Amino acid sequence: MLGTAGLTAALSVYELEQGGVKPQDGPILVTGATGGVGSLAVAILAKAGYQVTAATGKASEADYLKSIGATEVIERAAVTEGSERPMMKTLWAGVVDCVGGEMLAAAIKSTKYGGVVTCCGLVGSIDLPLNVFPFILRGVRLIGIDSAACPMSHRTAVWQKLATEWKFGGLESMVDEIGLDGLEEKFQSMLKGGLKRRGLVNLQ
Ligand SMILES: NC(=O)c1ccc[n+]([C@@H]2O[C@H](COP(=O)([O-])OP(=O)(O)OC[C@H]3O[C@@H](n4cnc5c(N)ncnc54)[C@H](OP(=O)(O)O)[C@@H]3O)[C@@H](O)[C@H]2O)c1
Repeated sequence: MLGTAGLTAALSVYELEQGGVKPQDGPILVTGATGGVGSLAVAILAKAGYQVTAATGKASEADYLKSIGATEVIERAAVTEGSERPMMKTLWAGVVDCVGGEMLAAAIKSTKYGGVVTCCGLVGSIDLPLNVFPFILRGVRLIGIDSAACPMSHRTAVWQKLATEWKFGGLESMVDEIGLDGLEEKFQSMLKGGLKRRGLVNLQ
């Protein structure tokens, strides 16, 4: 049920921890929060004791996001508001970004001094419309996440955490069990950015 999205979310949280971001440093922003990686990142961060701000394009899913651990739910547009400016007001101790593009750029511009931002996705865009100010004036660190080729030592450390200190309850509620005939509907919803919950394919 955790799958690649769970590994990717856990690798992202691992990088925040390794980068020294602590729960008392302030909220962590998760973008694309209702998606597979985003929702699992929300749950893992909450279990690890962080305050989580979940950014979503689906206002109707606010209660769901709170039920899996979000402290606060904001609209996607709230993240990018004012992002035409070279720097933005600092809000986040860390960011788990699943979207890329303007959303990632705005998140980096809003990260506090010394914060860590992870980048794993491109559903918004593969481009990053950014300047160097957040890095050279605020010491913000941007870390790329790759679940496909990351070394076994890294994977082992992260799965170990998922099995122990990051093991959160209610995983079943985040998953829809479907048959192969349910895939087409899931794919269409994914392509429209409307996917909610993960699909667990029951091959029988
Ligand atoms: N680097 C890696 O190893 C790795 C591993 C797995 C996945 N990925 C990538 O990570 C990203 C997320 O994967 P996923 O499995 O979570 O995908 P997903 O389940 O399809 O979720 C993506 C979420 O992003 C938001 N979104 C969709 N279109 C958007 C748009 N145009 N602008 C802004 N937000 C948008 C939506 O959430 P809201 O409605 O809540 O905003 C959507 O639910 C994908 O790009 C995927 O390819 C990378």
